Amino acid sequence: MYDKKTYIKRREQLKKKIKSGLLLFLGNIDSPMNYADNIYPFRQDSTFLYYFGLDHPGFTAVIDIDENKEMIFGDDLSVDDIVWTGPQKTTAQLAKSVGINNTAPTCKLDEVLKAAISSDRKIHFLPQYRAENKIMLSDLLGIHSKLINNYSSHELTTAVVSQRSIKSKVEVDDIEKAVNVSYDMYTLAMRSAKPGMYEREIAGLVEGIVLSAGGRLSFPTILSVHGETLHNHYHTNKMKSGEIFVMDSGAEVSNGYASDITRTIPANGKFTSMQKDIYQVVLKTQMSSIKTIKPGVSYKNIHLKAAKIITQGLKDLGLMKGDVNDAVTNGAHAMFFPHGLGHMMGLDVHDMENLGENLVGYEKNAKRSDQFGLAYLRLARELKPGFVLTVEPGIYFIPELINKWQKEKINSRFINFNTVNKYRKFGGIRIEDDILVTKSGHRVLGKPIPKTIKEVEEYCNL
Ligand code: GLY
Repeated sequence: MYDKKTYIKRREQLKKKIKSGLLLFLGNIDSPMNYADNIYPFRQDSTFLYYFGLDHPGFTAVIDIDENKEMIFGDDLSVDDIVWTGPQKTTAQLAKSVGINNTAPTCKLDEVLKAAISSDRKIHFLPQYRAENKIMLSDLLGIHSKLINNYSSHELTTAVVSQRSIKSKVEVDDIEKAVNVSYDMYTLAMRSAKPGMYEREIAGLVEGIVLSAGGRLSFPTILSVHGETLHNHYHTNKMKSGEIFVMDSGAEVSNGYASDITRTIPANGKFTSMQKDIYQVVLKTQMSSIKTIKPGVSYKNIHLKAAKIITQGLKDLGLMKGDVNDAVTNGAHAMFFPHGLGHMMGLDVHDMENLGENLVGYEKNAKRSDQFGLAYLRLARELKPGFVLTVEPGIYFIPELINKWQKEKINSRFINFNTVNKYRKFGGIRIEDDILVTKSGHRVLGKPIPKTIKEVEEYCNL
């Protein structure tokens, strides 16, 4: 937890942006896995964590803008509970530690909200993503749980998004700590991978690193020799000599901040020449894209430039043909690079996606493309100092997609299907780092994780 001044300052900034009414913030509660006492690891709601810092289940907060009053609602444990949990701080003690002096048991929340409703005051709340909290809000506000998000406050949501988008120094430090744990995860994966191992053995080793650093994964690890499947959480293949595996993973070690890194690693420690050719194109795209990051530049333009570098690289290898600009305008590269170049990150690995992907990643009134590939671009807006984002280009050979495009002659004037068909068993390559936009440019966060072919092979053979 940060010093209480950090949370007080964050709330003061937010209060200035909302005209009137009550701001209602729901923390998360424990979620059962298979019965009530066997729970998923607790993860606090990120916005609750951001403004109130309390990483415990069962708290709700209210900020009354008109009366300038802040309250935390939560239930203290009984001695019977403490027999199982050990001594815990009271709600009042915890609230005080983040600069809030008014607390009450959760049952009192109903009274506060009913009083506001009967005086026709606005209750602002954020879009909800957990069923338990939708039901709680439904009970409190008398709105059907399926319709709750239709009543969330745009004014509050945009205020939170604009504030959380700009990371302060302490937040960047925490993201950097998470990236440094990723360094240990990736170098261990490189050193450990051997033909004959199961993917899950590597996944287990890297998860162990995060747990022993006192954290947890920031999302379920993607790790597979079938790297052509973009989010492959199936780790049961035995790795063979000559195969490469994509590992896309992250840590969350300090105050809930995430890292999100990807490397592609040869199972036997040496890339084949075919793999090297594709790897170099992805690497060049990633490094050139990072170089262009600075305030004022549109991330959509950086994405489109990345698509052009990939197209040129694939053309040089005989996989694509025709005019590079036309190919990208027509979305031909998306058969190989079907996702966006990156996304914002912070307390969430896709930062604030629960508040609305377009609100976070697109300018007001900007229309999101519906073209295959470009439609998946999560971050398209002009960059500002303090943004932290990922740069993660990739090239994939997805047999089902190749079949469809070949059969339907989609973008056939830009793709050499005869050559592409030689790569059907290739898999995929993705390379990703986490970048801070600074006042004058950018900074790649954390200890540099082996990335060039030489560096990756070197670490694989340590
Ligand atoms: N690194 C996983 C993702 O961006 O979805």
